[in-house]
Amino acid sequence: MADFPAAFVTGYPIRHSRSPLIHGHWLQNYGLDGSYRAIEVAPDGFADFIRGLHKNGFVGGNVTIPHKENAFALCSRRDAAAEEIGAVNTLWFEDGVLWGGNTDAYGFVANLDGMNPGWDRHKSALVLGAGGASRAVVYALKQRGFDDIRITNRTVERAREIADRFGRGTSSHEWRAIPELLEGAALIVNTTSLGMEGKDDGAVDLSNADRDVLVTDIVYVPLMTPLLQSANALGLRTADGLGMLLHQAVPGFERWFGTRPDVTPELRELIIADMNRSARNGFSK
Ligand code: ATR
Repeated sequence: MADFPAAFVTGYPIRHSRSPLIHGHWLQNYGLDGSYRAIEVAPDGFADFIRGLHKNGFVGGNVTIPHKENAFALCSRRDAAAEEIGAVNTLWFEDGVLWGGNTDAYGFVANLDGMNPGWDRHKSALVLGAGGASRAVVYALKQRGFDDIRITNRTVERAREIADRFGRGTSSHEWRAIPELLEGAALIVNTTSLGMEGKDDGAVDLSNADRDVLVTDIVYVPLMTPLLQSANALGLRTADGLGMLLHQAVPGFERWFGTRPDVTPELRELIIADMNRSARNGFSK
């Protein structure tokens, strides 16, 4: 067993995860003894992996696709965000009990607070997509007092499920209603995989958007998604998805290693350089 705190990120696949780079950077920068490594676990081995965490000397870790809902079911206690979102991305032990939290909503707001102060002044938003990431964003917006959250999805039933889950202040809409939904929305958030590298699936037309809207994407590969590109071309303000990835890592690191780390321009540059390296080598993520 390691004599320093050991943490992990698990997913399937996991080899393109940037989390080891983020946590490794912080461990080194703060001069802390600890480790953080990527461990690939297939879905049929996930429950055993979680049950063995304590025995294997882990203080906790991150969970990513496709394990977030399973992790939710397998931990003993959950924080409020995880309960509301229905997914767990961060695990830790308290008095021997396995806790699960969700830091995606925190990462989303912390990034906008840092990069776009005042982003939450107007309480209306259009959310594209209705998967797990959408639930985290809708939860975050509700926490910030948004009272007009318009959720649209190619499969409208999934948008309806999220609106039902979060209730007052949310509404669900057909994908084809986007031109009308853009009017009066102060924030646009893409949570779909539209525009993810390698996918050629036509960008959303933003020409109806308000001039002072903020357009954000939680996809960060590529950094400049088709949605952000068209926002830029129209002179609209944008926020890319990398900041959310960096900020969602903060609470876990603090729990496992005892120091609250900073998200710095240096860290951002480190990850961008790695993304550029991967792109040159033909890896998209
Ligand atoms: P996650 O948990 O990461 O949010 P997900 O549950 O797979 O991932 O959701 C992916 C989202 O991208 C969904 O909203 C999906 O729409 P559907 O529910 O209709 O599948 C959306 N999406 C993927 N490809 C899309 C496309 N070409 N056009 C519009 N939406 C798309």
